[in-house]
Amino acid sequence: MRRILALFLILMMLGGAALAEPLTASTLTADANVTTVEMSDTLYGLFFEDINYGADGGLYAELLQNRSFEYEDILNPKSVDHYTGWGFNLAFGATGTATVMTEDPLNANNPTYMRVNCTKGEYRFANLGYQSTTFSGGIPVEEGKTYRCFVWMRNAGDFDGQVEIALTKRTGKSLAVPKRFTLTDEWQKYELEFKSSYTEDAVLSFIMHGTGAVDFDMASLIPADAFGADWPGGGLRADLVQALKDLQPSFLRFPGGCVTEGSYYRKNFYDWKDTVGPIEERKENFNTWGYMQSYGLGYFEYFMLAEAIGAEPLPVVHSGLLCQARDVKEAPLTIAETHEYAQDLLDLIEFANGDVTTTWGALRAEMGHPEPFDLKYLGIGNENWDNIYWDRFDILYKAVKAAHPEIEIISSAGPVAEGSLPQYAWRVVRAKYPDTIVDEHYYMDSAWFLNNTHRYDSYPRTTRVFVGEYACHEATQSNGRRPNNLYSALCEAAYMTGLERNSDVVVMASYAPLLAREGMQQWTPDLIWFNAREVLLTPNYHVQQMFASTVGDQVVASSLESLNKRIYHVVTRGSDKLYVKLVNVSEYADAMTLQLTNVPDGAATFTRLTGDKNAVNTFQNKERIAPTQEQIALENGMLTIELPAYSATILTFPLK
Ligand code: AHR
Repeated sequence: MRRILALFLILMMLGGAALAEPLTASTLTADANVTTVEMSDTLYGLFFEDINYGADGGLYAELLQNRSFEYEDILNPKSVDHYTGWGFNLAFGATGTATVMTEDPLNANNPTYMRVNCTKGEYRFANLGYQSTTFSGGIPVEEGKTYRCFVWMRNAGDFDGQVEIALTKRTGKSLAVPKRFTLTDEWQKYELEFKSSYTEDAVLSFIMHGTGAVDFDMASLIPADAFGADWPGGGLRADLVQALKDLQPSFLRFPGGCVTEGSYYRKNFYDWKDTVGPIEERKENFNTWGYMQSYGLGYFEYFMLAEAIGAEPLPVVHSGLLCQARDVKEAPLTIAETHEYAQDLLDLIEFANGDVTTTWGALRAEMGHPEPFDLKYLGIGNENWDNIYWDRFDILYKAVKAAHPEIEIISSAGPVAEGSLPQYAWRVVRAKYPDTIVDEHYYMDSAWFLNNTHRYDSYPRTTRVFVGEYACHEATQSNGRRPNNLYSALCEAAYMTGLERNSDVVVMASYAPLLAREGMQQWTPDLIWFNAREVLLTPNYHVQQMFASTVGDQVVASSLESLNKRIYHVVTRGSDKLYVKLVNVSEYADAMTLQLTNVPDGAATFTRLTGDKNAVNTFQNKERIAPTQEQIALENGMLTIELPAYSATILTFPLK
């Protein structure tokens, strides 16, 4: 301690005049060969939910909104309806009507369609995409890029002409070569491709050359170069997939979140079976967050995505309870119904892992993946608590374990960090289901995160935790949002040093929510923002990426001497690298001396995130807070590095 104080005084004398901020001096010692616990190889992963238009209007590459006229809001029927996302009677001088129909639909899962009756002129209507304005469409197309399009149509009996399908401006100006179709009086799928000659905010126009009525349903417009364009769903937005992949996630949790539980009515339960098979037969459902889920990103696509980004698939199914945190309108599944529902979980495991000769394994093969997905984890319940949950969990847990003892079950600890709900969950788990992984969720403020970096030090070492949802919530700002600022990211980083130190207990962790479409969000903060054309990475994203790319296999014992109580650290190692993570959440820069044993001298790299504590990245200034990389040398097992105020620094030392 005397040495630190002396160094502190010397630094103050030498550098104090030149430095704008006070400087403390700290020393971290570690021996690379002295390790404490093994690190989980599934520590950092992704929590995906269709919130903030994260799937439809987001990751799912479909450019049309309400492509199948199924939109409805079961709580406020007037706010969202079957016409959402469409514009009718767009051509000057034409007349006609557009009527929502349900008689003789495309199929039973797709009950609603639009009957358009042209009475005069060339009646035009269009799908406007997302976030269209009075003057422009919401479909972002790029010059030279190809788009795959299809629509199901039927001559309603008296239509005497052709239907033209065109990629146009909202005004009607064509952006690509259109195509005309003559229809039969049966539902039929009509397909075409557009190569856009312009970069524009477009609409997908349907122009009726003739009078009479035509039935329209299930249209689609997806870039031909979408990620997974050959998957049954039609693919995902490549830039967002890349952003996910760059996080090097070890697991992908899906499909939520509250979305899993549905919210108000039983028909809201997320039924994985509604989300597989041909897309026109997937049964759309009202989304807890106020819009519809097309399920074009369904269970098959989630499994495919997990495989493509190198993550373990981790589905979370509902436990028979509608969202306990909401004002639900119907009772949960009865005990008898829960026994029946257990079969859905077994069918899901068969869909993921079953042989192609099984019913659900055969569907997986038919959808394009004969090999099993090697599902290892299953979450039962999202944010559930009390015996109403445990009674149902018991049935589902036993059914799965009896048939598939190899599947790891994840149970809920409710929606809050502390208090009687999680405490009770832990008592039940320890007494009855000690082999389950417990899913803790917490959205807390920065002080909580900093004060809880030792939360898991005292957890019994036999328990396993999945921090399934967490984020540092700063105060809501005048724009109505809780910010993704540097400070929140650093508080998460500080907290994550505690997760790593306890990685024998904390086997998985995922920030939540993952995605948000700018201007259409229901929840802030979020890890990745996007608009129609661009992706915006937050400081929180950079922290996740910095940590996930430097996990290691074991925690290395270390000790920190510092006067600055807002410096957090953890040291870990892999077979050939040592990682030192240092998070300075204070306003004071620090001169940090590392004294490392059994680490070869030579060049090391360090990655750093720093800046104004309140800074956020914006679409106008995406790189305001972004990691930088530099080199530094270790000599005689020592180096001194400045930790700027408000910074996260990760040093990587080669061990060989
Ligand atoms: O992440 C947003 C929501 O927070 C999730 O849907 C829910 O599980 C939690 O309450």
